[in-house]
Amino acid sequence: MKKLLDLLTEEMGKAFEAAGYDKALGKVGVSNRPDLCEFQCNGAMAGAKQYHKAPMMIAGEVAEKLAGSRAFAEAAAVAPGFLNLKVRESFVKEYLEGMRREPKFGYESGKAPKKIIIDYGGANVAKPLHVGHLRSAVIGESLKRINRYIGNEVIGDAHLGDWGLQMGLVISGVQERQPDLVYFDETYTGEYPKEAPFTISDLEEIYPAASAKQKEDPQFHAKAMEATYKFQSGVRGYRALGEKIREVSVEDLRKNYQSLNVEFDLWNGESSVGDLIPEMVDYMKEKGYAYISEGALVVDVKEDTDTKEVPPCMILKSDGASLYNTTDLATILDRMRQYQPDQIIYLTDKRQDLYFVQVFRCARKTKLVTPETELTWIGFGTVNGKDGKPFKTRSGGVMRLETLISDTKAEMYRKILEGREMSEEEARKVADQVAVAALIYGDLSNQASKDYIFDLDRFTSFEGDTGPYILYTIVRIKSILSKYAEQGGAVEKAALREPDSAAEKALALQLTAFQAVMESAAEENAPHKICAFVYDLANSFNHFYHEVKILTEEDEKKKAGFIALLTLTKDVLTDCIGVLGFEAPDRM
Ligand code: ARG
Repeated sequence: MKKLLDLLTEEMGKAFEAAGYDKALGKVGVSNRPDLCEFQCNGAMAGAKQYHKAPMMIAGEVAEKLAGSRAFAEAAAVAPGFLNLKVRESFVKEYLEGMRREPKFGYESGKAPKKIIIDYGGANVAKPLHVGHLRSAVIGESLKRINRYIGNEVIGDAHLGDWGLQMGLVISGVQERQPDLVYFDETYTGEYPKEAPFTISDLEEIYPAASAKQKEDPQFHAKAMEATYKFQSGVRGYRALGEKIREVSVEDLRKNYQSLNVEFDLWNGESSVGDLIPEMVDYMKEKGYAYISEGALVVDVKEDTDTKEVPPCMILKSDGASLYNTTDLATILDRMRQYQPDQIIYLTDKRQDLYFVQVFRCARKTKLVTPETELTWIGFGTVNGKDGKPFKTRSGGVMRLETLISDTKAEMYRKILEGREMSEEEARKVADQVAVAALIYGDLSNQASKDYIFDLDRFTSFEGDTGPYILYTIVRIKSILSKYAEQGGAVEKAALREPDSAAEKALALQLTAFQAVMESAAEENAPHKICAFVYDLANSFNHFYHEVKILTEEDEKKKAGFIALLTLTKDVLTDCIGVLGFEAPDRM
């Protein structure tokens, strides 16, 4: 289906043409004076120069041609030359009928589907997720869902941090505790045990202890460096132990991500491409892209137009060790070979901006990607506390994501039980679901690049621009629909009607924006646009609900029309929150 604005623009273009002007002048947009009109066209002003005529005259002539238009009920030329427009109710009804009939409410992309890899989550093995990981996970998940919705093929990859010094630290920490493990016997050639020699809680103790110890104990630091080197260069026992660290971590990470409705297709990590590094390095050297500078192997990536210094991309350190860069580049090579994606999207903290400039330039220069491959980095802002500083626990420590989730669930449970008749068990279940929506919506409703303040009380409120408010709206609609069914009405059969009040028309018009919103959210990687739409739609519905008696309406046809409008509203809201990454309960 075409977008409503495009249909209106077509109609307007015809009117310009009929009046003897260029039809390209007929671009229609949403009114910026909603008190005066629903849509507007500023084409007469642009045409004035082209045709050496007063804009008011052009607007007047075009308005005349619109008399009897099937799309416009009103077209008024107003000084200095605007066309103020109102859409015909019959036209809106027809459009909504199309939305109701077509899959995805008539969404049509008109573009060839892309294959996209989204690299998100940002987790590192052996380290618990903290509040900083929330954004990468929920923004990435939403972009994955939005792109799938509009017909793109998407592969979500967790790209775990499992290659660097933290691996050597954990391995050395394990060795201190259990020196006799077979993994450390370099003469051993048999199979390694299936069972990991530690649990996730052990790892959670081992990593911070080892990390603290290396700062005070140079000998331990050297040992960890050596273990990292052995692990990276493929010493059997070290690799096998590294694999166990990864397994145990992934199991725990999976649970945490699942509680936020985040699911990856691939759990690859930096280590997945460890064995591609030597090949990639040889290739870069052979082609003359990489050279030795102060002992390190680097690729120059500065460009003449740079206003800031862009240092060379380091491929290998002087001791031959690989870096964060190296595995990222090898991962690009691997992804191109295995999947030939049209685009790779990365989500990280915005402080990694220079890093991704270097990596992308290096990948292009060394031809790891084709010229058409889009490499997109989305840098997100920080989650701050009310003091404007990065969000911490009450005692000033790092806030674990698990704690943040459970605190939100507890607060939601308290609010749900307050003034509601619900068993504790149901309240618990509903609270968990609403809490996740509160967190996800609280995050996604902000533009990704901006910092935001984590405000538990606001996020979990049933009023205002919040997840619970959106869910509450959906639940309210569901309850009206089920009451209608209880009264003997057939929800599915209810036919749409021409809106006849301002509130009804406003809700109907709001719905027509769905396609344009989904499209721009996808094009601009901007889930916050869907949040804004969902909030406006919920507000339009709630306004309608307060203005109009729905279930007590005596005219059955009219009532059925309300029901059809509500059903469409609920369905659109449901798909929208689905691509944001959460669901609505039946009651709350
Ligand atoms: N693990 C990294 C970190 O903690 C984030 C990974 C982001 N993805 C990437 N391909 N570099 O900062």
